[in-house]
Amino acid sequence: MGPRLIIVSNRVAVPDTPRAPLAGGMAVAVKAALKNRRGMWFGWSGKVAEESVGEPQAVEVNKINYVLVDLSKNDIQEYYNGLANSVLWPILHYRVDLQEYSRADASGYLRVNRMFADRLSPLLRDDDVIWVHDYHLMVLGRELRARGHRNTIGFFLHTPCAPPDILQALPHHRAILGGLAHYDLVGFQTENDRDNFAHYLVSQGATQTRTGYEFEGQKVRLGAFPVSIETKAYMRLARNAGRSAMVSLVRESLSGNRLVLGVDRLDYSKGIPDRIKAFERLLENNPEWRGRVTLLQVTPKSRSEIRQYGEIETEVTGLIGKVNGRFGDAAWTPIRYVNRSYSRTVLAGLYRAADVGMVTPLRDGMNLVAKEYVAAQNPDDPGVLVLSQFAGAAKELDGALIVNPHETDAVAAALKRALEMPLEERRERHAPMLDHLLENDIKKWAEDYLATLVGAQPARSLLAGIRALFGGQSDQAPLALR
Ligand code: UDP
Ligand code: G6P
Repeated sequence: MGPRLIIVSNRVAVPDTPRAPLAGGMAVAVKAALKNRRGMWFGWSGKVAEESVGEPQAVEVNKINYVLVDLSKNDIQEYYNGLANSVLWPILHYRVDLQEYSRADASGYLRVNRMFADRLSPLLRDDDVIWVHDYHLMVLGRELRARGHRNTIGFFLHTPCAPPDILQALPHHRAILGGLAHYDLVGFQTENDRDNFAHYLVSQGATQTRTGYEFEGQKVRLGAFPVSIETKAYMRLARNAGRSAMVSLVRESLSGNRLVLGVDRLDYSKGIPDRIKAFERLLENNPEWRGRVTLLQVTPKSRSEIRQYGEIETEVTGLIGKVNGRFGDAAWTPIRYVNRSYSRTVLAGLYRAADVGMVTPLRDGMNLVAKEYVAAQNPDDPGVLVLSQFAGAAKELDGALIVNPHETDAVAAALKRALEMPLEERRERHAPMLDHLLENDIKKWAEDYLATLVGAQPARSLLAGIRALFGGQSDQAPLALR
């Protein structure tokens, strides 16, 4: 059977929960990675309790045990809306200007990480392999170690990692980012993200060892593991969804217009205003495209209680109104803007129907939408991906038209080129990207990470073997090693 895999993350995608919040890339990836593995997924229930936090609730779906804790209003405010999403998220996305730090939020963050450790601790077995995900839980490993757990514990950061100068803008950064050194292996989306963190550790006095880094007495390995999708299953899904009634309806409603598609949580990191400006520039510079192309922007609201997210919403709706007012007419609306999330099936059908996928974040860890768009295309008549150079996916999807989202004219020109690209070139660009995704799918991501994680500590597993041989007598030895 092998050891259990314990996944821990703030957001948990429990299947079949009606009106579940939009998963986002992290939960989509983790859910796929847990398929056919024995394990448990521990995290926030998505519910807000009035005051004190009750006992964790366990549910089993498709052989996976989900163990969920509620958070109090105060936890949500200080930990989720506060330090995680008003400080760490902007800083990791290079937006120091947007961070709003408070001491109360920082202690709320540490408190919730401790609470997660307290709740998880009694559920753990000695041979469990623990895999913690994302910036909400940077210090959970340290808390589990403090409770005596000597398990193999890994961490994966789904966001980008900014360079040291930017990370140092986080007040008390050593107490939070330094927490990552208590994991056995910290995984990043790209080599650039991994190197940024390595430079940060060194800037704080870490020394390089044969296999990784040593920081404040902790040994940690770092690696790059680009997250991916269930490519084969996604291709199938899109093929079927492409023939669905819903997609026919969308096609009909376009009355022959070409379709450009954007799919993003309403987040300032996604570059939605810049994209709208580029679409406006396309219409401005190319009157022949007026009345012949529609941008469908699917933008579920996200983290709406946070001020910066309210501001981006106002900016986006203002810009879209301006473009539609300026270029639209009674029979044609240039931009269709939808603040709702769609099921994976509907989304796959929309990707398949779209002539151009616009993925132009200002900064993104990976961006699974880009990979899903490629997998969803009809290989005989594929659409074109316009992709920001600042998405982690740009390192892999080099058949896309790669753009700098800050350069409006260049993005508008890429959009025009995508709309006018001959079939042969579209196929030539698409085929190698699809091959890459078939070879590097989510299964490979999870296997590569876990193989590296489990191989990460030969000394400790050796000691475990020795302990087993001597009937569990050498209990203290692993602690001395750390
Ligand atoms: N997604 C979805 N429905 C929607 C919009 C997005 O299921 O209406 C999914 C999308 O298919 C993708 C994930 O949400 O798997 C978004 O991941 P990505 O890495 O692109 O961005 P993130 O939201 O994690 O920053
Ligand atoms: C990104 C983050 C995830 C997060 C998701 C959705 O993918 O890396 O950790 O779950 O966005 O955001 P939310 O705040 O709704 O969980």
